[in-house]
Formats: sequence, structure tokens, C-alpha cells
Amino acid sequence: MSEDRQPVLQPAGTGGVTPEEVADATHIPHPPALPEYRWVYLWRWPLRVTHWVSAITVVVLVVTGFYIGAPYFTTWGEASSHFLMGWARFLHFTAAGLIVAAAILRVYWLFAGNKWARWNALLPVRKKNWKNLWKMLKYYLLIRQETMPHYLGHHPLQQLSYTAIYLVVIVQIVTGFAMYGLSNPGGLFYTMFSWVGPLFGGIQNARFVHHALTWILITFIPLHIYLAFRADVMDREGEMSSIFSGGRFVRADLKFEDE
Ligand code: HEM
Repeated sequence: MSEDRQPVLQPAGTGGVTPEEVADATHIPHPPALPEYRWVYLWRWPLRVTHWVSAITVVVLVVTGFYIGAPYFTTWGEASSHFLMGWARFLHFTAAGLIVAAAILRVYWLFAGNKWARWNALLPVRKKNWKNLWKMLKYYLLIRQETMPHYLGHHPLQQLSYTAIYLVVIVQIVTGFAMYGLSNPGGLFYTMFSWVGPLFGGIQNARFVHHALTWILITFIPLHIYLAFRADVMDREGEMSSIFSGGRFVRADLKFEDE
């Protein structure tokens, strides 16, 4: 084969597609060809366990909670013949116990975890993060892409939204246990959470809050999943796999705000 008919060799793993072609096809800024990558171990097992236990239990709590609030399978005949409400309540309270266990583990990990899992990485307490919040907003609103700050762990928008979700779950736990205690007046949960009813101006209001906040969680779940997929596709740094394996590959040429 003569010199000018030699095929153009592409770097291994690109499938014969140049980075320019990929950038053209996806319309997103593409990392330079074959950058150096390194692996960082971010989320240790307590954080991953907390995440997946919460993810599963929240879905169970939403489904069974809505059934408890408005039992929709009315064609199943007498309650005594299928015990459907009994099962819904049993599952709701079992999931409630599990999410409380996960919450306790997370609180412990706020102090014992690594720097990406600690309280000061979750709560937006640093001045720098408030400044970067604005840049992140511009990035997500597609106003300005280049100045996006890079984070290994949670970026400021995640810090804010995750803190808000944790607060929602705490209110769900408190109002839930206040209602739970009503089935045994004078019992442990009744006594422990007797302040909740008066705080909300009556237990019916606490029940309303318990119901209404469920909608925040329902909104959060698809958004959270969409943004996780989006980050994985756009940044190509294995964000999705980090919540399974604990770590991700990041470009060696980038500087991270939280390193
Ligand atoms: C993310 C967490 C939770 C979600 C999304 C959730 C959702 C719901 C919903 C939608 C209802 C129906 C409210 C209504 O319209 O009447 C409900 C009821 C209830 N939830 Fe939860 N819940 C959560 C956590 C908890 C926890 C931690 C407890 C603690 C034991 C709990 C205990 C209860 C109780 C006692 C009821 C009323 C049951 C009944 O009347 O038999 N919930 N929940």
C-alpha cells in the first residue's frame, strides 16, 4: 500500500471516530483527545448503603403512604378477606424503621466520613460554595458553560438540594411518628412525639404536612435520576458508577474545588 493510501489510525477505544466528530454529533464541549484520567474513591460503603436504603424505602413509603391516605383498590371485597390496608401499613412502618436507621447512619457519617461526606461538604457553609452556586446555576441554565466549577463530591446546587431533601425526610419522620404514636396513647412514641401536634396546630395539620411533603419527594426522584444520567453523559466521568462502586474516574488536567 502506498504512503498516501495508508488508513488514518485513530487512538484505541475511539471506534475510529475523531473527538471533533463526537463533539459535532453531540454538540457538547468534548474533553481533549485521550486525557489522562485518575480514579478517586469518594463514597465509602456507609454512604452508599444510606443512599440505596433511602432510595428503596422512600419509594415504598410513597406508594404505601398514598394507599393509606386514599385506599384505591376498593374492588377487592371485605377488608378481612385480603388485609390489604394491613399490609400497606405494615410495609409503611417497616420502611419507616429502615429509613430512620439509614438516617442515623448518615448522621454518624456526617462526622466520621471522609471530606466529601462530612457535614461541611453537605451543608453549603463555605463562602466559596455560595459564589460557585451562581456559576453552577448559569451552567444548568445553559447561560455559561466554560466557567463551571468542578467538584469531586457535591457541587453547591447539590449541597442545597440534598440538604433540603434531608430536611423534608426529617419532617416526614417526625410527623409520621407523631401519627404512629396515636394508636397507643400514653405509649413510647405517643409520649416522645406529643409536641408535634401542637407545633403544627393540631395533628390533622401534621398529617396534611406529611401528605404534602410527599409531593416534594415525588418531584425530587425523577429530577435526581435525570440529572445523574445527564452528568454521566455530559461530563463522562462515571458519576453514575460512583454510587455503586464508590469511586469515579476524573480528568487529571482539571482542578477541583473540594479536593
Ligand atoms: C419519606 C418518608 C415518608 C413518606 C413519603 C410518607 C408518606 C405518607 C403518606 C402519603 C401518607 C398518607 C397521608 C394521608 O394522606 O393521610 C402517610 C401516612 C402515614 N405515615 Fe408516612 N411517609 C413517610 C415516612 C413515615 C415515617 C418515618 C413514619 C413513622 C412511623 C410514617 C408514619 C405514617 C403514619 C402513622 C401514617 C398514617 C397511617 C394511618 O393513618 O394508618 N411515615 N405517609
